[in-house]
Amino acid sequence: MLRPHQVSKRSHTALQDPIQQFNQWWQAAVKDSPLRQKSAVCISTINKDGFPSGRYVDLKAVDKEGFVFCTYLDSDKGRDIVNNPKVALTAWWDHMGYQVRVTGQANAIDDVKAQSYWQTRGRDAQLTTHAFAQSRPLDSQADLKSRFEAISEAFRDKGVEKPQNWGGYCIAPQTIEFLTFQENRLHLREKYLRLAQGWQLQLLQP
Ligand SMILES: Cc1cc2nc3c(=O)[nH]c(=O)nc-3n(C[C@H](O)[C@H](O)[C@H](O)COP(=O)(O)O)c2cc1C
Repeated sequence: MLRPHQVSKRSHTALQDPIQQFNQWWQAAVKDSPLRQKSAVCISTINKDGFPSGRYVDLKAVDKEGFVFCTYLDSDKGRDIVNNPKVALTAWWDHMGYQVRVTGQANAIDDVKAQSYWQTRGRDAQLTTHAFAQSRPLDSQADLKSRFEAISEAFRDKGVEKPQNWGGYCIAPQTIEFLTFQENRLHLREKYLRLAQGWQLQLLQP
């Protein structure tokens, strides 16, 4: 296991599938992570005034379709995505010395997939999802408690169904860049660009 701030001695080898590479890094990063939120990644969107906005979310899955996270579809990030589906995802795993930067297009996942992610949420998480309107103004902090209590009462002795405004997005990647910190600061940057068939790899100066 790498200690915090210890950096990798990985060197560039050969073109491989960047999705596979991401999953290898992610699994290794989660396994040895000192963090409680081991799969947090930053999602950046562009708002209607052209300003970028980044926030962390929990990365749920990564496969050849893309990078999946769950959220309220009518949150600020959801509204940004309706206006402009071009987004970025950034991960930094300090204990590995790895950064990953993804750009791509966010597409809402279908309801069947959203339902299956909903079922993985604990009851309290399901209740808070119903209780709150993410990104909307709040009159007072005490309001959070009364909203939660009202929703808990409404769903007492009942299953909590997924609200319409909760689901997820899959980011279909256009570029994926892997940065490997090196002890001598000659950091390795490997940027993959999606082609009609497969990927093109370009090394970049750090
Ligand atoms: C470690 C971490 C994980 C988070 N995971 C999620 C998540 O999976 N989904 C989500 O909607 N918000 C998540 N949040 C909260 C978001 O960062 C953000 O506050 C919220 O989604 C509202 O963002 P918006 O107003 O820009 O839409 C997480 C925050 C942190 C710090």
